[in-house]
Amino acid sequence: MGVTVWSSSSTIILLLTCALLPPSAKPDPNDERCLTQLSESLQDPLKNLQNWTKTTFANPCQGFTSFLQGATCNNGRIYKLSLSNLSLKGSISPNISSCTNLQALDLSSNSLSGPIPPDLQYLVNLAVLNLSSNRLSGPIPQQLALCAYLNVIDLHDNQLTGLIPQQLGLLARLSVFDVSNNKLSGPIPSSLGNRSGNLPRFNASSYEGNKDLYGYPLPPMRSKGLSVLAIVGIGLGSGLLSLVLSFTAVCIWLKISEHKMAAAEEGKITQLMPDY
Ligand SMILES: *[C@@H]1O[C@H](CO)[C@@H](O)[C@H](O)[C@H]1NC(C)=O
Ligand SMILES: *[C@@H]1O[C@H](CO)[C@@H](O)[C@H](O)[C@H]1NC(C)=O
Ligand SMILES: *[C@@H]1O[C@H](CO)[C@@H](O)[C@H](O)[C@H]1NC(C)=O
Ligand SMILES: *[C@@H]1O[C@H](CO)[C@@H](O)[C@H](O)[C@H]1NC(C)=O
Ligand SMILES: *[C@@H]1O[C@H](CO)[C@@H](O)[C@H](O)[C@H]1NC(C)=O
Ligand SMILES: *[C@@H]1O[C@H](CO)[C@@H](O)[C@H](O)[C@H]1NC(C)=O
Repeated sequence: MGVTVWSSSSTIILLLTCALLPPSAKPDPNDERCLTQLSESLQDPLKNLQNWTKTTFANPCQGFTSFLQGATCNNGRIYKLSLSNLSLKGSISPNISSCTNLQALDLSSNSLSGPIPPDLQYLVNLAVLNLSSNRLSGPIPQQLALCAYLNVIDLHDNQLTGLIPQQLGLLARLSVFDVSNNKLSGPIPSSLGNRSGNLPRFNASSYEGNKDLYGYPLPPMRSKGLSVLAIVGIGLGSGLLSLVLSFTAVCIWLKISEHKMAAAEEGKITQLMPDY
């Protein structure tokens, strides 16, 4: 009797445990593709990436546990990738978009080059994008505006060119936007420079360090070439300089001839003096 009670209750406990455990986490083929392609496009000269091997890509997560350095897992899926300051080179594979549950992508402070893949638009859960302090070039993809949950776009210290896409102003949750120290040009779209209502606003520090970028909160467009004022200034300056120079020259010449005269006078005097 006692044995039966014990065994049935333990069966119940076993059944309960099974029900509470997460379903046998099947690795996701999308994550595997994403990680495989990303590791192929990245270079890791200092061998900083631990466990970034094909075997781990096939099974990077178990529930909330990650076996991949820099990865955070949520329910068996990759949901954060933080590979900051690891001396990584190479480029960002467009197939990173296969990590469809990705919420945060931080590849900052490396030496990554090449473009920012427009395919990031398929990361519909992306909230944080930090690609700052790399050597990324090409335009800022306007498609980023399709990642509706984006809170943070930090692209400072790269070599990005072209215009700032005005579409990014549509991102209602955007609270950090930093594109300083790039090679961006043209007007700052008012959708980002002068946001209306209670949308978070970004000051000049988000935009400075781009030689040809202009408009609020930066100063208005600088006129091409030398301004009239600069030309007048240079004219006046060089005029004054040559005036000073010629005065100096005249003074020196006068001084020298004065000396000569004096010397000559002295000579005359000595000559006039009778020798004893
Ligand atoms: C690498 O994988 C092993 C086992 O799969 C794990 O124990 C270890 O924590 C992993 N290392 C990192 C940095 O995630
Ligand atoms: C970046 O990594 C280097 C070398 O590993 C380290 O010395 C430095 O403190 C790191 N910088 C930051 C900001 O973590
Ligand atoms: C990577 O993405 C490209 C398109 O961006 C696609 O053509 C290619 O098949 C993808 N590679 C893999 C292995 O999925
Ligand atoms: C992006 O990463 C850099 C360091 O790599 C950090 O200093 C910066 O604060 C990050 N940006 C945001 C908005 O967190
Ligand atoms: C910013 O926008 C407001 C209206 O939303 C406008 O009145 C103001 O002139 C704008 N400022 C600049 C510098 O463009
Ligand atoms: C500009 O904004 C940043 C945060 O986005 C803040 O840290 C900084 O103090 C602001 N600078 C000025 C001059 O307001």
